[in-house]
Amino acid sequence: MKIAIGNDHVGYELKCEIVKYLKENNYEVTDVGHYDSNRTDYPLYAKMVSDLVVKGEVDRGILICGTGVGISIAANKVKGIRAVCCSEPYSAKLSKEHNNTNVLAFGARVIGVELAKMITDSWLNAEYEGGRHGKRIDMIKDIENSQFK
Ligand code: RB5
Repeated sequence: MKIAIGNDHVGYELKCEIVKYLKENNYEVTDVGHYDSNRTDYPLYAKMVSDLVVKGEVDRGILICGTGVGISIAANKVKGIRAVCCSEPYSAKLSKEHNNTNVLAFGARVIGVELAKMITDSWLNAEYEGGRHGKRIDMIKDIENSQFK
């Protein structure tokens, strides 16, 4: 599985840990930056990761900022992105199974490294269930299509 990952300055250190963990677990990782802890702006990385996901160049995206909130909001502005901001594994798993999320976000100021790994595992190992959830995803797409030209 190919994963794109991006972060702002606050998410940089946690991003390094997650990239290492993903590679150890044989995921192919595209790291779009930010590559240090100097101040930057999270929408840049949300856009880069989201574009790779919607173009199909990667299977899924992971985003990290201070809370995971700003970067997930920005990702959700990209047509075709369903990003979840998670601080625990249960919602991460269900967000894939029910909502077919294609981007996972979390906050480096909110969770520690081991919980971030657990959330990542839970999300990456989950599969979209389809069925009754498909209708709701289609309804989300209808909203999207009515907003974006
Ligand atoms: C940066 O200070 C901070 O606002 C950012 O990392 C993130 O938490 C935004 O949601």
